[in-house]
Amino acid sequence: MELTVNGKTYNVDVPPDMPLLWVLRDELGLAGTKFGCGVAACGACTVHVGGQAVRSCVTPVADVDGPVTTIKGIGTPQALSIIQQAWIENQVAQCGYCQSGQIMQAAALLAENPAPTDDDIDAAMEGNLCRCGTYPRIRAAIHAAARRLQEG
Ligand code: FES
Ligand code: FES
Repeated sequence: MELTVNGKTYNVDVPPDMPLLWVLRDELGLAGTKFGCGVAACGACTVHVGGQAVRSCVTPVADVDGPVTTIKGIGTPQALSIIQQAWIENQVAQCGYCQSGQIMQAAALLAENPAPTDDDIDAAMEGNLCRCGTYPRIRAAIHAAARRLQEG
């Protein structure tokens, strides 16, 4: 089947029920997207399909019905820079394992809600677990990115 990932079109010869995460990591070599739980319980594998945040570990590749964006191809160059800068300035990452999923979830939130409250952030991010407990810094970075995006 044909898949568009980060603006590139790929032909992949895989079983239709193979999870998108397996295709990204093992077939396309896009290892920035992480495997955590495999059962939609941690958010480490979050990517965008058609602009929506999805858990790629439980998304059969045959169900992918739009362009896929991973941490390697997130948003516009400007938005990528703003979110990454905010993450760096707030020193969000600790071990880093959950962070590509966190950033993808945050990017989907900011695309929908350019000025999220703390409650909005907590609701949008509650399915993204961080065993290092970086939640306060994630929240601060999302607020910082939102401010930058609003300033243009
Ligand atoms: S690896 Fe997909 S939600 Fe945990
Ligand atoms: S930074 Fe270590 S799990 Fe989140």
